[in-house]
Amino acid sequence: MRARAHLAWVCPPVGAGSAAFWFSAAWTMARVVSVLLFFLGCCAAQDILPPGPVDAVVGKNVTFLTLLDKPAFTFIIWNFENTHVLTLSATSVLVNKPYEGRVSVDEQNGSLHLGALTKDDSGDYSVSVVSADGATDTDGIQLRVAESLVIRSSVTEAVEHNDTVVLTCAAIGSFQKFTWLNGTTPMVVDGKRLVLNENDTSSQLTIAGVLRTDLPGPVYCTATNKVDTEKSAPFSLLVHYGPDPIALTPADVPRFVRAGADFNLTCSTRSSPAATITWYRNQTVLEIAGPVLPLSVVQQHPLWQHMSTYTCRAANAKTLRQVSSRGAPFSVIEPVLGVNMSGPSGVLMAGNSTANLSCRATAGTVTTRTWLKDGKPVVGGGRVTLAADGGSVMIAPLQKEDNGEYQCQFANPVSSQKASYKMVVIFGPEAVAVSGKSAVEVKDAVTLTCSAASVPPANFTWKFNGTLTEVKTATYVIGEAVYKNTGAYMCQAHNAATGKTAMHTHNLSVKEEGTLQGVLSDGAIAGIIIGILVALGLAIGVILYCRQKVPVESPY
Ligand SMILES: *[C@@H]1O[C@H](CO)[C@@H](O)[C@H](O)[C@H]1NC(C)=O
Ligand SMILES: *[C@@H]1O[C@H](CO)[C@@H](O)[C@H](O)[C@H]1NC(C)=O
Ligand SMILES: *[C@@H]1O[C@H](CO)[C@@H](O)[C@H](O)[C@H]1NC(C)=O
Ligand SMILES: *[C@@H]1O[C@H](CO)[C@@H](O)[C@H](O)[C@H]1NC(C)=O
Ligand SMILES: *[C@@H]1O[C@H](CO)[C@@H](O)[C@H](O)[C@H]1NC(C)=O
Repeated sequence: MRARAHLAWVCPPVGAGSAAFWFSAAWTMARVVSVLLFFLGCCAAQDILPPGPVDAVVGKNVTFLTLLDKPAFTFIIWNFENTHVLTLSATSVLVNKPYEGRVSVDEQNGSLHLGALTKDDSGDYSVSVVSADGATDTDGIQLRVAESLVIRSSVTEAVEHNDTVVLTCAAIGSFQKFTWLNGTTPMVVDGKRLVLNENDTSSQLTIAGVLRTDLPGPVYCTATNKVDTEKSAPFSLLVHYGPDPIALTPADVPRFVRAGADFNLTCSTRSSPAATITWYRNQTVLEIAGPVLPLSVVQQHPLWQHMSTYTCRAANAKTLRQVSSRGAPFSVIEPVLGVNMSGPSGVLMAGNSTANLSCRATAGTVTTRTWLKDGKPVVGGGRVTLAADGGSVMIAPLQKEDNGEYQCQFANPVSSQKASYKMVVIFGPEAVAVSGKSAVEVKDAVTLTCSAASVPPANFTWKFNGTLTEVKTATYVIGEAVYKNTGAYMCQAHNAATGKTAMHTHNLSVKEEGTLQGVLSDGAIAGIIIGILVALGLAIGVILYCRQKVPVESPY
């Protein structure tokens, strides 16, 4: 076996006394002892060490004192669990690398000093004393390394308002002064809801009706005595709270929501742990989990078009509290779609035709029906009959005034659609008139314009002194008038659809040049005024002259 082979090897041949040999021998020995202890299940305990366990504090030192007094030994070997710590020989101290700098050994009695303790140093230490003849005595001792200050809580988690939390800061050793810190800020203890109880080894902080704000960050305690100040490891306590009052968004829920719109109700609340949200439609649970109620889910309900009140409720499984949101009443409305107007398709004659206009929508509930003609509301009465449901308009009989663009506007609170129809009522011609001068001078240009009310528009022909002319337009143009243009001009308006003709006669007289200049121009008026003033001036001058020339009595 491996252990036996090593044992044989441990006893060196006589004369093999070099330092190198002993050094490696010591190292091997340490490992051998570890292995031996492991295989043999340890040897009978010798009184090398006092009974344990030994208690020590994190960051401090500990010394394992042996009961030996100047023992005769070849090696004293210290192990921790199965790890070599240190081997002392008559001439050297061999320290395992991880322990370098923090262990030392008393070369007289083999006591081990271990510094900068951590919790990982807790465990079983063993010491083996190997005599010159190879005899080995082994003993062990337990080390318990603890924090100097530890915060303990009466509860592992708490419910805001309901629970009283007692935190204890327990110290190893005695201290004069304890302090509680929230992060780095000293906690304010009011003596009412937060109460302190202290002695020289502990400080007890009692928090009645704990709030989420009482222990926001990690909490520490510190303890001070004449020698030093200790600080505990951070401590955190989970304080469950909520749900807080619910915010339901949007803040202003419309009373009518368009079906299929991108619309959600959202419920938000602060809660630890996160609240479970349930949605209700008129007090009936909806099958949707989570803080968002999409319109698509509302529309899955068979009565989705009915005005209903939607509410959410938040529940916290730890605090056992529940809160409800305000109710959001709304109804979902399908938009009006496919509005279409139908009207008469044949020829409509003023006086003896009837028109029925009707509008229909292919989808949506129509709540408002408005009829317009050329942008103005259609008023029922007389020839016009508006159906009670607003779906149609009947006009009987049609008259020329009914020509125009008709619109129906079908709407509900979420949408509106229009359709239109152009009504053409055939009539006329009526009110035939000719505009233009009735007297001109020779060489003047003349334009006579004929007009008539007619649907469709009338065709025009002109007669002069009873004779049909070539002119077939609404205007009759004479480039330069001559005497023989004097006479009667008759405009004839003809509507091919009604077959009716109406006419108007206009008389024109062509006069000699200059005979019509009865009207003076501005220049002429100015000339006349100047002329009068000059004449007046002359007259006054003559009068004054004549006075001077009053015949003086002759001296003769
Ligand atoms: C602990 O041991 C280290 C060396 O290991 C030493 O420097 C230090 O002074 C010791 N501290 C105490 C409190 O004994
Ligand atoms: C906390 O207190 C409230 C109100 O008194 C109560 O409804 C709730 O059940 C309590 N929670 C727990 C976990 O006891
Ligand atoms: C319109 O009335 C006229 C008589 O005034 C009649 O000759 C004609 O047939 C009527 N047209 C229609 C479409 O009823
Ligand atoms: C118009 O509608 C009315 C009643 O709805 C009906 O009596 C009439 O015959 C209809 N007229 C036409 C031209 O469709
Ligand atoms: C047309 O009639 C008017 C009045 O009757 C007459 O004075 C004129 O000479 C006639 N013109 C022609 C070209 O016949």
